Amino acid sequence: MTDIILETCNLRCQYPDGTIALQDISITIKKGKKIALLGTNGAGKSTLLLHLIALIKPTSGKIFFQGKELHYNRSSLANLRSRVGLVFQDPESQLFAPSVRQEVSFGPINLGLAKKQVEERVFSSLELSGIPHLVDKPVHLLSYGQKKLVSIAAVLAMKPELLILDEPTASLDPHNSKEIMQLLNTLNQKGMSVLLVTHNVEEAYGFADEIILMNNGLITGQGTPEIILSQDELLADNHLTKPIVLEIFNSLQLAGHLPKNLPIPRSRQALMDLIQNNTPIQDNNGR
Ligand SMILES: Nc1ncnc2c1ncn2[C@@H]1O[C@H](COP(=O)(O)OP(=O)(O)O)[C@@H](O)[C@H]1O
Ligand SMILES: [Mg+2]
Repeated sequence: MTDIILETCNLRCQYPDGTIALQDISITIKKGKKIALLGTNGAGKSTLLLHLIALIKPTSGKIFFQGKELHYNRSSLANLRSRVGLVFQDPESQLFAPSVRQEVSFGPINLGLAKKQVEERVFSSLELSGIPHLVDKPVHLLSYGQKKLVSIAAVLAMKPELLILDEPTASLDPHNSKEIMQLLNTLNQKGMSVLLVTHNVEEAYGFADEIILMNNGLITGQGTPEIILSQDELLADNHLTKPIVLEIFNSLQLAGHLPKNLPIPRSRQALMDLIQNNTPIQDNNGR
């Protein structure tokens, strides 16, 4: 059995107005991974996502889902969309039902599940998203952060194998953003593959097992966050900056305050621990 869920081969997308949003995109999305698709505004990220769930057909190129070429007929689209879930950047363009219960029930009802199973799916996905108390709320009364969580719960109710989120923390405050990132980690620990689309270097660095870098409709880098996000020239070419943890770590090593052979820290805490464990203890006279 293949461990690749989705694969794109030489995708190209030209919009009707002539804009070439994707020039040549070949990527593979492996099972169980946390992947960040990283790039500045206008890089083509959202366009690529719309191709991954077949809302747009490529101008040329192919998509393979579970090893088979995707054909745009009803049954293969239904199969793809029951296994690959996309959370849109703007919850307003995803949510349409009057109440949270109706919104989250929609997918499972469409799958043809029995009433009891639908209720179970609604309950478990709201529980996972940390909002079971909102089940009977009208959607229009929710805060932006709550709408975001409902839009995630609605996709989780489909039990997707691969969860794709388009800039899920954009416009959220730090507390709500942290909650969403924790949820994504929990989902991944439960076996779900997660593709996080972001322009935020810090978020990608803290989260991903693998980074796919995108610029101007092209893939410009792919690899571990430590390798991809420590390359100054590559970052500059993609109009991105180095994550602050890596920047400080590199500067401390360069200045000789930290030894060369340390593991690269992935979080502020890991960096603080390295600094504490590698700083000579001073005596009472500051020596
Ligand atoms: N429906 C559309 N019609 C024409 N051009 C579009 C459309 N959607 C996006 N674009 C253009 O395609 C390029 C990539 O956009 P997008 O995929 O939204 O990038 P990102 O999500 O990385 O910000 C941009 O130049 C954008 O203006
Ligand atoms: Mg976008």
